[in-house]
Amino acid sequence: MKPTSSPPKTPRTYRVKSFGCQMNVYDGERMAELLGERGIAPAPEGEEADLVILNTCHIREKAAEKVYSDIGRLVKAGNKAGKSPLIAVAGCVAQAEGEEIMARAPAVSIVVGPQAYHRLPEMLDKAAKGERATDTDMPAIAKFDALPARKKRGPSAFLTVQEGCDKFCTYCVVPYTRGAEISRPFSHLIAEAQKLIEAGAKEITLLGQNVNAWVGEDDKGHRAGLAGLIHALARIDGLERIRYTTSHPNDMDEALIAAHGEVAKLMPYLHLPVQSGSDRVLKAMNRQHTAESYLRLLEKFRAARPDIALSGDFIVGFPGETEAEFEDTLRMVDEVRYAHAFSFKYSPRPGTPAATMEGQIAPAVMDERLQRLQARIAHHQFAFNQASIGQTCSVLVERTGKLPGQWLGKSPWLQSVWFEGDHAIGDLVEVELAEAGPNSVMGIIERSS
Ligand code: 5AD
Ligand code: SF4
Repeated sequence: MKPTSSPPKTPRTYRVKSFGCQMNVYDGERMAELLGERGIAPAPEGEEADLVILNTCHIREKAAEKVYSDIGRLVKAGNKAGKSPLIAVAGCVAQAEGEEIMARAPAVSIVVGPQAYHRLPEMLDKAAKGERATDTDMPAIAKFDALPARKKRGPSAFLTVQEGCDKFCTYCVVPYTRGAEISRPFSHLIAEAQKLIEAGAKEITLLGQNVNAWVGEDDKGHRAGLAGLIHALARIDGLERIRYTTSHPNDMDEALIAAHGEVAKLMPYLHLPVQSGSDRVLKAMNRQHTAESYLRLLEKFRAARPDIALSGDFIVGFPGETEAEFEDTLRMVDEVRYAHAFSFKYSPRPGTPAATMEGQIAPAVMDERLQRLQARIAHHQFAFNQASIGQTCSVLVERTGKLPGQWLGKSPWLQSVWFEGDHAIGDLVEVELAEAGPNSVMGIIERSS
Protein backbone atom coordinates (compact mmCIF):
# COMPACT_ATOMS: atom_id res chain seq x y z
CA MET A 1 0.00 0.00 0.00
CA LYS A 2 1.23 3.49 -0.86
CA PRO A 3 0.78 6.60 1.29
CA THR A 4 -1.65 9.11 -0.22
CA SER A 5 0.11 12.09 1.37
CA SER A 6 3.81 12.80 1.80
CA PRO A 7 5.38 12.54 5.25
CA PRO A 8 6.19 15.73 7.19
CA LYS A 9 9.51 17.36 6.23
CA THR A 10 10.38 18.25 9.80
CA PRO A 11 8.71 15.87 12.25
CA ARG A 12 7.72 17.43 15.56
CA THR A 13 6.65 14.27 17.37
CA TYR A 14 7.96 10.69 17.40
CA ARG A 15 7.10 7.22 18.64
CA VAL A 16 9.67 4.44 18.99
CA LYS A 17 8.27 0.89 19.00
CA SER A 18 10.92 -1.53 20.28
CA PHE A 19 10.58 -5.29 19.83
CA GLY A 20 12.72 -8.14 21.14
CA CYS A 21 15.54 -7.97 23.65
CA GLN A 22 16.50 -5.48 26.36
CA MET A 23 19.27 -4.14 24.18
CA ASN A 24 16.64 -2.99 21.72
CA VAL A 25 14.86 -1.26 24.60
CA TYR A 26 18.14 0.49 25.45
CA ASP A 27 18.73 1.45 21.79
CA GLY A 28 15.15 2.74 21.58
CA GLU A 29 15.73 4.97 24.61
CA ARG A 30 18.93 6.35 23.12
CA MET A 31 17.21 7.08 19.80
CA ALA A 32 14.50 8.90 21.74
CA GLU A 33 17.14 10.97 23.55
CA LEU A 34 18.77 11.81 20.22
CA LEU A 35 15.45 12.98 18.80
CA GLY A 36 14.84 15.00 21.96
CA GLU A 37 18.11 16.87 21.31
CA ARG A 38 16.67 17.85 17.95
CA GLY A 39 13.54 19.22 19.55
CA ILE A 40 11.35 16.31 18.49
CA ALA A 41 9.01 15.34 21.32
CA PRO A 42 7.32 12.03 22.17
CA ALA A 43 3.84 11.89 20.61
CA PRO A 44 1.14 12.34 23.23
CA GLU A 45 -0.74 9.15 24.17
CA GLY A 46 -3.45 8.34 21.61
CA GLU A 47 -2.10 10.75 18.97
CA GLU A 48 -0.45 9.75 15.69
CA ALA A 49 3.27 10.58 15.65
CA ASP A 50 4.97 12.49 12.78
CA LEU A 51 7.90 10.05 12.92
CA VAL A 52 7.53 6.36 13.76
CA ILE A 53 10.60 4.22 14.39
CA LEU A 54 10.06 0.47 14.23
CA ASN A 55 12.97 -0.90 16.25
CA THR A 56 12.87 -4.50 15.08
CA CYS A 57 14.04 -7.93 16.24
CA HIS A 58 15.24 -10.69 13.93
CA ILE A 59 15.94 -13.48 16.40
CA ARG A 60 12.90 -15.66 15.79
CA GLU A 61 9.83 -16.19 13.64
CA LYS A 62 8.67 -14.19 10.74
CA ALA A 63 10.00 -10.96 12.14
CA ALA A 64 10.37 -9.35 8.73
CA GLU A 65 6.74 -10.15 7.83
CA LYS A 66 5.68 -8.45 11.05
CA VAL A 67 7.59 -5.34 10.00
CA TYR A 68 5.74 -5.20 6.66
CA SER A 69 2.38 -5.60 8.35
CA ASP A 70 3.27 -2.85 10.85
CA ILE A 71 4.27 -0.58 7.96
CA GLY A 72 0.98 -1.40 6.20
CA ARG A 73 -0.96 -0.50 9.34
CA LEU A 74 0.88 2.82 9.67
CA VAL A 75 0.22 3.71 6.02
CA LYS A 76 -3.46 2.82 6.36
CA ALA A 77 -3.85 4.92 9.53
CA GLY A 78 -1.93 7.78 7.84
CA ASN A 79 -4.15 7.65 4.76
CA LYS A 80 -7.26 7.71 6.92
CA ALA A 81 -5.97 10.70 8.87
CA GLY A 82 -4.76 12.40 5.66
CA LYS A 83 -1.33 12.68 7.25
CA SER A 84 1.35 10.07 6.54
CA PRO A 85 4.04 9.57 9.16
CA LEU A 86 7.73 9.44 8.37
CA ILE A 87 8.60 5.77 8.84
CA ALA A 88 12.03 4.55 9.93
CA VAL A 89 12.94 0.88 10.32
CA ALA A 90 15.72 0.29 12.85
CA GLY A 91 17.10 -2.75 14.69
CA CYS A 92 18.18 -6.18 13.52
CA VAL A 93 15.66 -6.66 10.67
CA ALA A 94 16.90 -3.35 9.23
CA GLN A 95 20.46 -4.67 9.45
CA ALA A 96 19.66 -8.04 7.88
CA GLU A 97 17.11 -7.02 5.26
CA GLY A 98 17.56 -3.28 4.77
CA GLU A 99 17.75 -3.34 0.96
CA GLU A 100 14.71 -5.56 0.67
CA ILE A 101 12.72 -3.28 2.95
CA MET A 102 13.60 -0.25 0.81
CA ALA A 103 12.60 -2.14 -2.33
CA ARG A 104 9.36 -3.58 -0.98
CA ALA A 105 8.08 -0.72 1.17
CA PRO A 106 8.02 2.68 -0.56
CA ALA A 107 6.48 4.21 2.57
CA VAL A 108 9.74 3.68 4.48
CA SER A 109 12.04 6.72 4.38
CA ILE A 110 14.85 5.53 6.66
CA VAL A 111 16.51 2.16 7.27
CA VAL A 112 19.05 2.26 10.07
CA GLY A 113 21.00 -0.64 11.59
CA PRO A 114 21.63 -1.13 15.33
CA GLN A 115 25.21 0.19 15.10
CA ALA A 116 24.39 3.27 13.02
CA TYR A 117 21.46 4.99 14.73
CA HIS A 118 23.66 7.83 16.03
CA ARG A 119 23.44 9.07 12.43
CA LEU A 120 19.65 9.43 12.58
CA PRO A 121 19.87 13.27 12.56
CA GLU A 122 21.66 13.29 9.17
CA MET A 123 19.21 10.76 7.87
CA LEU A 124 16.31 12.96 8.97
CA ASP A 125 17.92 15.86 7.06
CA LYS A 126 17.97 13.69 3.95
CA ALA A 127 14.38 12.68 4.49
CA ALA A 128 13.45 16.36 4.80
CA LYS A 129 14.71 16.81 1.23
CA GLY A 130 12.46 13.98 0.13
CA GLU A 131 15.35 11.51 -0.20
CA ARG A 132 15.43 8.03 1.30
CA ALA A 133 18.34 7.04 3.56
CA THR A 134 19.90 3.69 4.47
CA ASP A 135 22.75 3.14 6.93
CA THR A 136 23.73 -0.33 8.08
CA ASP A 137 27.41 0.30 8.84
CA MET A 138 28.81 -1.20 12.02
CA PRO A 139 31.02 1.39 13.77
CA ALA A 140 29.85 0.33 17.25
CA ILE A 141 32.07 2.49 19.48
CA ALA A 142 31.63 5.53 17.22
CA LYS A 143 27.90 5.20 17.85
CA PHE A 144 28.29 5.51 21.60
CA ASP A 145 30.71 8.45 21.25
CA ALA A 146 28.25 10.31 19.03
CA LEU A 147 25.20 9.90 21.26
CA PRO A 148 24.12 12.69 23.63
CA ALA A 149 24.42 12.25 27.43
CA ARG A 150 21.77 10.10 29.08
CA LYS A 151 18.48 11.71 30.01
CA LYS A 152 16.44 8.67 30.96
CA ARG A 153 14.66 8.92 34.28
CA GLY A 154 13.38 6.07 36.42
CA PRO A 155 14.47 3.77 39.20
CA SER A 156 15.73 0.94 37.00
CA ALA A 157 17.92 1.60 33.96
CA PHE A 158 19.74 -0.37 31.29
CA LEU A 159 23.35 0.29 30.37
CA THR A 160 24.85 -1.41 27.31
CA VAL A 161 28.44 -2.32 28.13
CA GLN A 162 29.16 -4.85 25.42
CA GLU A 163 27.69 -5.58 22.02
CA GLY A 164 27.95 -8.23 19.38
CA CYS A 165 28.85 -11.87 19.43
CA ASP A 166 31.73 -14.02 18.15
CA LYS A 167 30.27 -17.34 19.26
CA PHE A 168 28.33 -18.29 16.13
CA CYS A 169 25.85 -20.71 17.66
CA THR A 170 24.50 -22.42 14.56
CA TYR A 171 20.88 -21.27 15.05
CA CYS A 172 21.55 -17.61 15.81
CA VAL A 173 21.52 -14.43 13.69
CA VAL A 174 23.09 -12.16 16.31
CA PRO A 175 26.70 -12.44 15.07
CA TYR A 176 25.43 -11.28 11.66
CA THR A 177 23.08 -8.51 12.77
CA ARG A 178 24.99 -7.07 15.74
CA GLY A 179 28.49 -7.81 14.48
CA ALA A 180 31.66 -8.80 16.34
CA GLU A 181 32.08 -8.53 20.12
CA ILE A 182 33.08 -5.07 21.30
CA SER A 183 33.40 -3.67 24.82
CA ARG A 184 32.70 -0.04 25.66
CA PRO A 185 35.50 1.73 27.57
CA PHE A 186 35.42 1.66 31.38
CA SER A 187 35.45 5.45 31.86
CA HIS A 188 32.49 5.93 29.45
CA LEU A 189 30.47 3.36 31.37
CA ILE A 190 31.21 4.90 34.77
CA ALA A 191 30.23 8.32 33.36
CA GLU A 192 26.99 6.99 31.86
CA ALA A 193 26.15 5.17 35.11
CA GLN A 194 26.70 8.42 37.03
CA LYS A 195 24.31 10.27 34.73
CA LEU A 196 21.67 7.58 35.17
CA ILE A 197 22.04 7.72 38.96
CA GLU A 198 21.79 11.54 38.93
CA ALA A 199 18.54 11.09 36.98
CA GLY A 200 17.17 8.81 39.71
CA ALA A 201 18.30 5.29 38.81
CA LYS A 202 18.75 3.05 41.85
CA GLU A 203 19.31 -0.09 39.82
CA ILE A 204 21.43 -0.57 36.71
CA THR A 205 21.29 -3.66 34.53
CA LEU A 206 24.44 -4.07 32.48
CA LEU A 207 23.57 -5.32 29.01
CA GLY A 208 25.46 -7.23 26.37
CA GLN A 209 24.86 -10.11 24.00
CA ASN A 210 27.82 -11.66 25.87
CA VAL A 211 27.95 -9.25 28.77
CA ASN A 212 30.41 -11.39 30.71
CA ALA A 213 32.89 -11.13 27.81
CA TRP A 214 33.29 -7.42 28.66
CA VAL A 215 36.98 -6.43 29.01
CA GLY A 216 38.53 -3.05 29.60
CA GLU A 217 41.12 -1.06 31.44
CA ASP A 218 40.09 0.31 34.82
CA ASP A 219 40.96 3.77 36.19
CA LYS A 220 44.34 2.47 37.38
CA GLY A 221 45.19 1.16 33.93
CA HIS A 222 44.69 -2.49 34.97
CA ARG A 223 42.94 -4.97 32.72
CA ALA A 224 39.48 -5.61 34.12
CA GLY A 225 36.69 -8.06 33.35
CA LEU A 226 33.01 -7.62 34.14
CA ALA A 227 33.72 -8.32 37.83
CA GLY A 228 36.09 -5.32 37.92
CA LEU A 229 33.45 -3.10 36.34
CA ILE A 230 30.85 -4.32 38.85
CA HIS A 231 33.18 -3.62 41.80
CA ALA A 232 33.78 -0.08 40.47
CA LEU A 233 30.07 0.59 39.91
CA ALA A 234 29.28 -0.69 43.40
CA ARG A 235 31.48 2.10 44.82
CA ILE A 236 29.21 4.79 43.35
CA ASP A 237 26.95 6.32 46.01
CA GLY A 238 23.29 6.27 45.16
CA LEU A 239 23.47 3.10 43.10
CA GLU A 240 21.79 0.37 45.13
CA ARG A 241 21.48 -2.58 42.81
CA ILE A 242 23.49 -4.06 39.94
CA ARG A 243 22.38 -6.78 37.52
CA TYR A 244 23.79 -8.08 34.25
CA THR A 245 22.48 -10.02 31.27
CA THR A 246 23.04 -12.07 29.05
CA SER A 247 26.02 -14.30 29.68
CA HIS A 248 27.67 -17.22 27.88
CA PRO A 249 28.95 -20.10 30.06
CA ASN A 250 32.36 -20.06 28.38
CA ASP A 251 33.01 -16.39 29.24
CA MET A 252 32.51 -16.88 32.99
CA ASP A 253 35.55 -16.30 35.17
CA GLU A 254 36.30 -16.91 38.83
CA ALA A 255 36.27 -13.18 39.62
CA LEU A 256 32.68 -12.81 38.42
CA ILE A 257 31.57 -15.88 40.36
CA ALA A 258 33.32 -14.51 43.47
CA ALA A 259 31.74 -11.07 42.97
CA HIS A 260 28.37 -12.64 43.75
CA GLY A 261 29.65 -13.39 47.24
CA GLU A 262 31.57 -10.12 47.66
CA VAL A 263 29.45 -7.30 46.26
CA ALA A 264 26.30 -6.69 48.29
CA LYS A 265 24.85 -4.49 45.52
CA LEU A 266 25.14 -7.30 42.97
CA MET A 267 21.74 -8.96 43.05
CA PRO A 268 21.50 -12.72 43.66
CA TYR A 269 20.31 -13.56 40.16
CA LEU A 270 22.01 -15.15 37.18
CA HIS A 271 20.64 -15.51 33.68
CA LEU A 272 22.80 -18.14 32.00
CA PRO A 273 21.33 -19.63 28.81
CA VAL A 274 22.12 -23.28 28.09
CA GLN A 275 19.64 -24.00 25.21
CA SER A 276 19.64 -27.80 25.61
CA GLY A 277 20.43 -30.54 28.11
CA SER A 278 21.76 -32.90 25.43
CA ASP A 279 25.47 -32.95 24.61
CA ARG A 280 24.83 -34.03 21.03
CA VAL A 281 22.46 -31.11 20.47
CA LEU A 282 24.81 -28.68 22.23
CA LYS A 283 27.56 -29.80 19.86
CA ALA A 284 25.35 -29.35 16.80
CA MET A 285 24.46 -25.90 18.14
CA ASN A 286 28.19 -25.09 18.41
CA ARG A 287 27.72 -24.08 22.02
CA GLN A 288 31.24 -25.27 22.90
CA HIS A 289 30.23 -26.55 26.33
CA THR A 290 28.55 -29.66 27.70
CA ALA A 291 25.55 -30.11 29.98
CA GLU A 292 27.89 -31.29 32.72
CA SER A 293 30.28 -28.30 32.47
CA TYR A 294 27.27 -25.95 32.62
CA LEU A 295 25.93 -27.68 35.74
CA ARG A 296 29.37 -27.52 37.40
CA LEU A 297 29.49 -23.80 36.67
CA LEU A 298 26.11 -23.25 38.32
CA GLU A 299 27.31 -25.14 41.39
CA LYS A 300 30.15 -22.61 41.71
CA PHE A 301 27.65 -19.74 41.64
CA ARG A 302 25.56 -21.48 44.27
CA ALA A 303 28.66 -21.95 46.44
CA ALA A 304 29.50 -18.22 46.15
CA ARG A 305 25.91 -17.07 46.74
CA PRO A 306 23.71 -19.86 48.11
CA ASP A 307 20.40 -18.00 47.59
CA ILE A 308 21.13 -17.13 43.92
CA ALA A 309 18.09 -17.36 41.62
CA LEU A 310 18.97 -19.09 38.36
CA SER A 311 17.49 -18.39 34.98
CA GLY A 312 18.14 -19.73 31.49
CA ASP A 313 17.10 -19.88 27.84
CA PHE A 314 16.05 -23.08 26.06
CA ILE A 315 15.35 -23.99 22.46
CA VAL A 316 13.15 -26.99 21.68
CA GLY A 317 13.08 -28.74 18.31
CA PHE A 318 16.58 -27.91 17.13
CA PRO A 319 17.16 -29.90 13.88
CA GLY A 320 17.62 -33.59 14.68
CA GLU A 321 16.49 -33.32 18.33
CA THR A 322 15.12 -36.71 19.38
CA GLU A 323 12.56 -37.37 22.11
CA ALA A 324 15.35 -38.73 24.33
CA GLU A 325 17.46 -35.60 23.73
CA PHE A 326 14.51 -33.40 24.57
CA GLU A 327 14.07 -35.39 27.81
CA ASP A 328 17.69 -34.54 28.67
CA THR A 329 16.58 -30.89 28.61
CA LEU A 330 13.64 -31.66 30.94
CA ARG A 331 16.04 -33.46 33.28
CA MET A 332 18.34 -30.45 33.32
CA VAL A 333 15.44 -28.16 34.24
CA ASP A 334 14.55 -30.48 37.12
CA GLU A 335 18.14 -30.66 38.29
CA VAL A 336 18.76 -26.90 38.26
CA ARG A 337 15.29 -25.93 39.58
CA TYR A 338 15.29 -22.62 37.73
CA ALA A 339 13.60 -19.66 39.41
CA HIS A 340 12.75 -18.43 35.93
CA ALA A 341 13.48 -19.42 32.32
CA PHE A 342 12.66 -18.52 28.74
CA SER A 343 11.90 -21.24 26.22
CA PHE A 344 11.47 -21.02 22.47
CA LYS A 345 10.61 -23.19 19.50
CA TYR A 346 13.54 -23.42 17.15
CA SER A 347 13.09 -20.97 14.30
CA PRO A 348 15.26 -21.37 11.18
CA ARG A 349 17.00 -18.09 10.47
CA PRO A 350 18.08 -17.41 6.89
CA GLY A 351 21.85 -17.57 6.47
CA THR A 352 22.55 -19.56 9.66
CA PRO A 353 24.04 -23.10 9.44
CA ALA A 354 21.17 -24.78 11.33
CA ALA A 355 18.57 -23.51 8.84
CA THR A 356 19.82 -25.98 6.23
CA MET A 357 20.55 -28.91 8.58
CA GLU A 358 18.86 -32.27 8.06
CA GLY A 359 16.08 -33.33 10.41
CA GLN A 360 14.05 -30.12 10.76
CA ILE A 361 11.39 -30.89 13.39
CA ALA A 362 7.66 -30.79 12.58
CA PRO A 363 5.79 -27.83 14.11
CA ALA A 364 3.38 -30.11 16.01
CA VAL A 365 6.29 -31.88 17.71
CA MET A 366 7.85 -28.53 18.63
CA ASP A 367 4.52 -27.32 20.06
CA GLU A 368 4.16 -30.40 22.20
CA ARG A 369 7.76 -30.22 23.49
CA LEU A 370 7.47 -26.52 24.25
CA GLN A 371 4.31 -27.14 26.30
CA ARG A 372 5.97 -29.89 28.32
CA LEU A 373 9.08 -27.78 28.91
CA GLN A 374 7.07 -24.72 29.91
CA ALA A 375 5.06 -26.80 32.38
CA ARG A 376 8.29 -27.95 34.06
CA ILE A 377 9.68 -24.42 34.13
CA ALA A 378 6.41 -23.06 35.58
CA HIS A 379 6.47 -25.76 38.26
CA HIS A 380 9.94 -24.74 39.42
CA GLN A 381 9.18 -21.02 39.22
CA PHE A 382 6.15 -21.48 41.47
CA ALA A 383 8.21 -23.66 43.83
CA PHE A 384 10.87 -20.93 43.98
CA ASN A 385 8.24 -18.31 44.82
CA GLN A 386 6.75 -20.57 47.49
CA ALA A 387 10.16 -21.24 49.04
CA SER A 388 10.77 -17.49 49.35
CA ILE A 389 7.68 -16.95 51.53
CA GLY A 390 8.40 -15.75 55.05
CA GLN A 391 11.59 -13.93 54.09
CA THR A 392 11.99 -10.18 54.34
CA CYS A 393 13.81 -8.51 51.47
CA SER A 394 14.23 -5.14 49.79
CA VAL A 395 11.87 -4.34 46.92
CA LEU A 396 12.53 -1.53 44.46
CA VAL A 397 9.22 0.19 43.71
CA GLU A 398 8.88 0.49 39.93
CA ARG A 399 5.23 1.30 39.30
CA THR A 400 1.74 1.53 40.70
CA GLY A 401 -0.43 -1.58 40.80
CA LYS A 402 -3.93 -2.12 39.43
CA LEU A 403 -5.77 -0.86 42.50
CA PRO A 404 -5.26 2.44 44.35
CA GLY A 405 -2.57 2.12 47.05
CA GLN A 406 -1.01 -0.90 45.31
CA TRP A 407 2.61 -0.93 44.22
CA LEU A 408 4.73 -3.22 42.11
CA GLY A 409 8.46 -3.79 42.38
CA LYS A 410 11.20 -6.38 42.13
CA SER A 411 12.75 -8.51 44.82
CA PRO A 412 16.53 -9.12 44.73
CA TRP A 413 15.70 -12.42 42.96
CA LEU A 414 13.81 -10.49 40.25
CA GLN A 415 10.40 -11.70 41.37
CA SER A 416 7.54 -9.27 40.76
CA VAL A 417 6.28 -8.31 44.19
CA TRP A 418 3.08 -6.37 44.85
CA PHE A 419 2.06 -4.80 48.10
CA GLU A 420 0.02 -1.95 49.61
CA GLY A 421 1.17 1.17 51.41
CA ASP A 422 2.17 4.78 51.11
CA HIS A 423 5.17 4.80 48.75
CA ALA A 424 6.70 6.43 45.74
CA ILE A 425 8.30 5.02 42.62
CA GLY A 426 12.02 4.58 43.28
CA ASP A 427 11.64 3.76 47.00
CA LEU A 428 13.48 0.74 48.32
CA VAL A 429 11.13 -0.85 50.82
CA GLU A 430 11.53 -3.76 53.19
CA VAL A 431 8.84 -6.26 52.38
CA GLU A 432 7.91 -9.58 53.92
CA LEU A 433 7.09 -12.04 51.16
CA ALA A 434 3.71 -13.37 52.24
CA GLU A 435 1.90 -15.26 49.48
CA ALA A 436 3.25 -16.91 46.34
CA GLY A 437 1.59 -16.88 42.96
CA PRO A 438 2.96 -18.56 39.82
CA ASN A 439 4.29 -15.27 38.40
CA SER A 440 4.40 -12.89 41.34
CA VAL A 441 4.51 -12.66 45.10
CA MET A 442 2.29 -10.68 47.46
CA GLY A 443 4.25 -8.81 50.11
CA ILE A 444 3.56 -7.04 53.40
CA ILE A 445 5.42 -3.86 54.27
CA GLU A 446 7.90 -3.80 57.11
CA ARG A 447 9.42 -0.30 56.77
CA SER A 448 10.73 1.95 53.98
CA SER A 449 13.99 3.85 53.49
N1 5AD B 1 15.25 -20.02 17.24
C1 5AD B 1 14.75 -20.07 18.48
N2 5AD B 1 15.30 -19.44 19.53
C2 5AD B 1 16.43 -18.74 19.32
N3 5AD B 1 17.20 -18.01 20.13
C3 5AD B 1 18.21 -17.49 19.41
N4 5AD B 1 18.11 -17.86 18.13
C4 5AD B 1 17.01 -18.64 18.03
C5 5AD B 1 16.38 -19.33 16.96
N5 5AD B 1 16.87 -19.31 15.74
C6 5AD B 1 16.95 -17.90 21.56
C7 5AD B 1 18.09 -18.48 22.41
C8 5AD B 1 18.77 -17.24 22.94
C9 5AD B 1 17.59 -16.29 23.08
C10 5AD B 1 17.95 -14.85 23.16
O1 5AD B 1 16.83 -16.53 21.89
O2 5AD B 1 17.54 -19.23 23.45
O3 5AD B 1 19.43 -17.46 24.17
FE1 SF4 C 1 23.49 -16.01 19.55
FE2 SF4 C 1 25.05 -17.91 20.65
FE3 SF4 C 1 25.96 -15.39 20.37
FE4 SF4 C 1 24.05 -15.92 22.18
S1 SF4 C 1 26.15 -16.76 22.20
S2 SF4 C 1 24.08 -14.19 20.72
S3 SF4 C 1 22.86 -17.51 21.15
S4 SF4 C 1 25.44 -16.79 18.71
